[in-house]
Formats: sequence, C-alpha cells, structure tokens
Amino acid sequence: MTEVAVTAPEGTAAEPGTIDAAIEEVVVIDYGGQYSQLIARRVRDCGVFSELLPHTVAVEQIAKRKPRGVILSGGPASVYAPGAPKLQRELLELGVPVMGICYGMQLLVHELGGRVEQADVGEFGRSDLHVSNPGLLLRGMPAEQTCWMSHRDTVYEPPPGFTALASSSSSPVAAVEDTERAIYGIQFHPEVVHTPYGQEILTRFLTEICGCEQSWSAASIVDEQIRRIRAQVGEAQVICGLSGGVDSSVAALLVHRAIGDQLTCVFVDHGLMRKDEGEQVIGAFRDTFKVPLVAVDAEQRFLERLKGVTEPEAKRKAIGAEFIRVFEEEAERLAGVGGDGASFLVQGTLYSDVIESGGGTGAATIKSHHNVGGLPEDLEFDLVEPLRALFKDEVRAVGAELGLPDRLVWRQPFPGPGLAIRVVGGEATKERLDVLREADYILQEEIRKAGLYRELWQSFCVLPDVRTVGVQGDERTYGYVVVLRAVTSDDAMTADWARLPYDLLETIASRMINELREVNRVVLDITSKPPGTIEWE
Ligand code: XMP
Repeated sequence: MTEVAVTAPEGTAAEPGTIDAAIEEVVVIDYGGQYSQLIARRVRDCGVFSELLPHTVAVEQIAKRKPRGVILSGGPASVYAPGAPKLQRELLELGVPVMGICYGMQLLVHELGGRVEQADVGEFGRSDLHVSNPGLLLRGMPAEQTCWMSHRDTVYEPPPGFTALASSSSSPVAAVEDTERAIYGIQFHPEVVHTPYGQEILTRFLTEICGCEQSWSAASIVDEQIRRIRAQVGEAQVICGLSGGVDSSVAALLVHRAIGDQLTCVFVDHGLMRKDEGEQVIGAFRDTFKVPLVAVDAEQRFLERLKGVTEPEAKRKAIGAEFIRVFEEEAERLAGVGGDGASFLVQGTLYSDVIESGGGTGAATIKSHHNVGGLPEDLEFDLVEPLRALFKDEVRAVGAELGLPDRLVWRQPFPGPGLAIRVVGGEATKERLDVLREADYILQEEIRKAGLYRELWQSFCVLPDVRTVGVQGDERTYGYVVVLRAVTSDDAMTADWARLPYDLLETIASRMINELREVNRVVLDITSKPPGTIEWE
C-alpha cells in the first residue's frame, strides 16, 4: 500500500476543535492502551459521539470541542516511570466529569495524591470484583461481578477526597470516585465484553454523570456531512473511484446527496472482479441512484499487463500502475468534457485508517485507500473524506440509511487487485480467472443460502497453479484444485478459520466438481491468522 501525502481536508471531524458543537461528545484520551479504540466505539454504542485523541493534544484544543466528559484510556506505562505519559492537570479544570480506566485511573490516583505501586503479581484476564460501596458509579449493580483486568501496577490507596468503591482479588482498590469534583476511576476494562456490567457502567457515566442525551447515531451524521461536503467543495467538480466496496460506495452516495451531478464516479472494471459484481455496481449507482458514472471496461488492458507475471507483489504493482493510468485518462477525459476538470477526489477513508496513521490529530499523511489502487503523490486533488469519523459498522448503517442495497452494504472485504492475487503460483490468465470466478460464485451462493454470509469476515476461493489427477466417469482427469478459505474476524488483524458445517462443505465441493469441468479437487484451508494471512497472494 502506498502512502500519499495530502492535506487533511478542512473541517474533518478528526481535527480537534472542528466538531459541530451541537453534537454531544465525550472524548477519549489515548495513553496507548490496546482497547482505547474500543472505548470510543462503546461510547458511540451508547448514543454519544466519541473520538480518540492522543494524550499530547493540547487541552485548549479539547476545550474548544466542548466535550460533555473525558475518559482517560489504559496504557502500557507505569505512572511513576521516567517518560511515562503524564496527566495534563488542566483536563480536570474543564468543568466536565473525568473517568480514568486502568492506566487512566492510576494516573488520576497518582497525580491527586493516592498510592500506586507495582504489585508482586499482575492481574490479567477475568477477575472477581467485589463492590463494597457502590457510590454513584456502580449504584444498582451486583456486589459480586466479574470484570476484565490487564495491569501490573495497582492502586493501594485512593487520593484524599475519593471513596473506594470496589476491590478484586489482586486489586485492593479497583474503583474510586469523588462525586464533588466529578472524577471517577476504574481499574478494569468496561469496554470489553468480558466485563458483563461494563456497558452499564459506561452508560451511567455518560448519562447520569455527564448528562448526555444519547441522541447520536451513525445515521444522524448524514445531514451534518452533507453540509460539510457542500461547504468544502462549493461549485467544484468532484471525482470518485468507485470499487463497489462498502466504503467507496457509501462515500460516493453521501457526496452525491450533497452535490448531485457535480460528482462523477469512475468505475474501472479490471476484469478481476467477482461474477456479476460490475453489473451490480453499475445497476445500483447509474440506474437506481442516477449518479453520473463512467464505467471503464479495461479487462483486456489488465490481462495484457498481467501476461507472464507470476509473483504476487509484481501482480499488485502491475495492477496498481494500470489502475492509475486508466483513472488518470478518465480524469483527463472528464476535464475535457466538463471544462475545468475535477479538483476534488472522494476517498472512503475510515476512522480506523485515521487512527492507524496519525491518531486523529488531522495528521498530514494518511494511508491511501487501497481500493482506489494507491493513487500517486502528484495527483492534484484535494480529498473529500466523509467517512473519516466512522467505524466500519457505522459506515454500513449510513449506507443502509442512504438506501444502498443490502448486497453492497454487507459486502465482504475484497482486495483491490481482485481475483488476480487469488490465482497463486502462476499467471492470472483469463482461463484461470474464469475458473476461479465460477468457483467463487458457487461458494458465495451456498454460503448465502446457508445464512452464513454476514457471520463470516470473508469467504472466497483460491486457485493454485497446480493440477492433480482425478477420476470422473471412468476417465482419468487432470484438473485444478480449488481451495476454500472462510474466516471469522473483527478487523482482519487476526482471524480464525470458520468451522463450516460438513454438509455445506460437501455441497460446495460437489457442485464445484460437477459444474466446473476444469476442477477435480476441492480442499479447505484451516489456517488461522497468525500464523497465516487471510489471502494467499
Ligand atoms: P491479509 O491477507 O494480509 O489481509 O491477512 C488482510 C485483509 O486485507 C485485505 N486485503 C486487501 N484489501 N487491497 C484491499 O483493498 C489489497 O490490496 C488487499 N490485500 C489484502 C484482505 O482481503 C483481508 O481482508
């Protein structure tokens, strides 16, 4: 994936201080914890907008956003270690409630005069929580509950003015509060599912303590985004590389809602799509939504480029380079037709991409969205990124709100270079791509019929450049092996192979062998990630 240097667009939600003040927000200050992103996610689940900000962001910036509350995340450091992230004390003077989670709590306790020390043993995983005094934060919740812990340092004494609310087997002080100053701390992680009362605790903090109304939803940003897009692009022409994936589809639809025919989508059919996919995208956008769409049938060009290329990285490069060429040609052609040409480019960048590449500070370098094939640095476009504040499932909610068909809203991720990287160990020829496309079609059809499509992160076929001997109808055959790959995952960082029912596997295998004369063997990949990757390449 290439990195493209771009200027973050004005007024994107990821820039501190640019949030519409009417939106109630609770910010999460990130001290580097592995669950920080999840905290923001859970806050949003409670109907309150939330973003993650690095702990280095100036408090004035945070103040400008007028948050209704602040949550301090966990983190790997020890509060007393040299160089450990410090608490900016001004955070406590914003006049809004503050809650520390894990390291966040230890920071508060340490800074305000309590005692935090390293314990002899750490506390990792499920733990029993004993609530001795529920206070406001834990009121109405059971005295005995389980929670998820992940820490070595431990709070031994709360700071003056604080009440200790709970303990666990290894944490004498596992929750504290000072209702006068509206400062709260919990040692365990309310954001993970292994803390059964976690969401209730977060809701208590957000509603009764911060006074939030829980009116935010992903769909509720549609109107706000439409206003922003209009303000950003004015009368200019805008271009969007549409891949048919959910991110670029939703981004394109939102922009079209905002500026109508000032937008032109370019759909490059590189001949490496799944069966019927091109028709679906064109049908939805051009016919249903009446979005100006240029569909480029570039199959021959891509096949030509892929001739003799067997190495996966070389395939990616060849496809990426050709994609850019086609896209540039179209952009130039449109400029010729429409006069001035487009000066804005729509990208389906998501919030997880923003966090990954700069922590939501409006960082100047973002990852190019790889569905658009990695556009080169010298393309003279300003970016329109209407999904920058959203997580993947929120993008789906917006897509549904905009009327995008279920098939596109719930589409499993599909790599930009398409089926070419799923023909492995050999050249991606038209013949092999067609075999793979047909096999993939059977797999998708059966997975959908079994009602498993949405449960799986991805399900697809791989076609190694290998033939094996078989026997069919008294005849010896020498055919392709199709590999079935189906995984469950939350974010593609890790994945588990899906335990598909045997009967389903049998149906899939026999359909492939009966219906595809080139295929005489079907195998199942049972490798998780790590150690494997999801794609074979
Ligand atoms: P791996 O194979 O590294 O893949 O476990 C992780 C996820 O990324 C997808 N993927 C891509 N997506 N362009 C994309 O848009 C690409 O070039 C690309 N390569 C891998 C893959 O399908 C999986 O979901």
